[in-house]
Amino acid sequence: MSSTPDKFEILAQLKERAREGGGAKRVEAQHERGKGTARERIDLLLDEGSFEEMDMLVEHDCSHFGMEKKTFPGDGVVTGYGTIDGRPIFLFSQDFTVFGGSLSKRNAMKICKVMDLALKAGVPIIGLNDSGGARIQEGVESLGGYADIFLRNTLASGVIPQISAILGPCAGGAVYSPAITDFIFMVDRSSYMFVTGPNVIKTVTHEEVSFEELGGSKTHNEISGVAHFRSSNELLCIESLRTLLSYLPSNNMEDPPAQDLGDDPAREDPELDTLIPDNPRTGYDMKEVLHRVVDQGIFFEVQEHYAQNILIGFARLDGRSVGIVAQQPMVLAGTLDINSSIKAARFIRFCDAFNIPLVTFVDVPGFLPGVAQEHGGIIKNGAKLLYAWCEATVPKITVITRKAYGGAYDVMNSKHIRADFNFAWPSAEIAVMGPEGAVEIVFKKELADAKDPVERQTELVTEYRDTFANPYVAARLGYLDDVIRPRTTRRRLCRALSLLENKADRNPSKKHGNIPL
Ligand code: HXC
Repeated sequence: MSSTPDKFEILAQLKERAREGGGAKRVEAQHERGKGTARERIDLLLDEGSFEEMDMLVEHDCSHFGMEKKTFPGDGVVTGYGTIDGRPIFLFSQDFTVFGGSLSKRNAMKICKVMDLALKAGVPIIGLNDSGGARIQEGVESLGGYADIFLRNTLASGVIPQISAILGPCAGGAVYSPAITDFIFMVDRSSYMFVTGPNVIKTVTHEEVSFEELGGSKTHNEISGVAHFRSSNELLCIESLRTLLSYLPSNNMEDPPAQDLGDDPAREDPELDTLIPDNPRTGYDMKEVLHRVVDQGIFFEVQEHYAQNILIGFARLDGRSVGIVAQQPMVLAGTLDINSSIKAARFIRFCDAFNIPLVTFVDVPGFLPGVAQEHGGIIKNGAKLLYAWCEATVPKITVITRKAYGGAYDVMNSKHIRADFNFAWPSAEIAVMGPEGAVEIVFKKELADAKDPVERQTELVTEYRDTFANPYVAARLGYLDDVIRPRTTRRRLCRALSLLENKADRNPSKKHGNIPL
């Protein structure tokens, strides 16, 4: 018998070496930080036994700094394909145990290969990021690798869903790949993203800041709006990523997957009839409205911690996946400001790109006044939201629960910008501005001359409210299709969505529009 290993044994040894990543010590260090390895994460993400790895034996070809003596099969990133709930996806998972998951030329080629395949096959691509950035020993070749990825992210945008989970460091220019993808997940205390780190910042601006404070999960979910989801550990993060995919089609030519949750589409909810407070200045929780309307009350919120004056997220109505945009009267009275406009605009564009109908619940007193808003560019940023609604051709349905004042009435998916069905509750107030403000402007002189200005103002406010602050002027003009009992909202939405199932609408042919960025 021959003592040399047979060809199957050689193959098994090579693959075993690749599976070891950077070795037991580095794997242990990874675990000590509460982090999984690249392969453990893939096992959590995919249906059991569905993963097929590609390019497992790829190695770098760098010979600087003694690198020729240090090679690891796979070269710091695990790539391949598998299924989630039976639906195919491509993925890459950076292996921090090999050169800190840093991006080499070969490593970038592996990532580009799965991205290209995902685009050709019309299948989502998921990136599990955990990397020290550009492979320092490779210099510009690594930078080129990043640019190759950025280009693919851009070309795939709007064609296949691209999702990033940040499960460790993601620094420098490397952040721009996740930034172009559709959704970013982060994990508390183990993931961070920044363009320049704390040390560089200290040198240049003399500001002292920790990694977590500068670019941790809380920061990007609450302050910058860079991230969309925040979890307390990797397991929950990956579960939420799987849930997100259940609402999305695999590409822009498909409809999103329907899923019957066993909730009667004609179900009425009498509590909705009394949910709006009598006092128009009192807030109420729009999430309660959503929970009472959508299938089994499940609202999968996106960017839950950012710009909370607007709610965005996915839900189902009679099994159909829908994108929901809704004001939250509990925060800033539901006004539109810079951050909420940008937040909702990107979500609307995502849904429109991927054939996900949009349902909006409106209770907006107007745009948030203030010097900071004007100087911060509320004009161009509010225009993003308007533009996004205007260009969207998916089924669009609006329910005005209470206020729809001023420009915000137009912006929030009004009939005039191609909404298909516009409903209002009897509590709706649709006018140029709120009664108090309107009276102060229109009757300025009369109030100044009045014997009892306070009494006269109260009279005029009541008169204005009776005349304009209701849904019936808009209903008479056909700007609303119907004023409905709140309890019937679910039934009306489900029927409207069913009618719009084969909606076909187009925008004029063009290279692309020029959204006010
Ligand atoms: C090569 C790297 C590396 C890198 C880490 N390693 N980053 N190797 N290129 N960019 C290696 C380390 O040498 C070490 O190898 C192992 O990974 C783990 O790193 P540690 O430093 O021990 O880990 P930790 O203390 O957790 O610190 C992680 C880190 C730190 C914060 C990410 O490693 C770090 O600051 N790395 C450099 C980050 C950076 O400046 N990258 C370039 C950014 S610019 P051994 O063998 O000891 O285990 C960039 C440009 C992209 O990315 C531009 C695109 C346009």
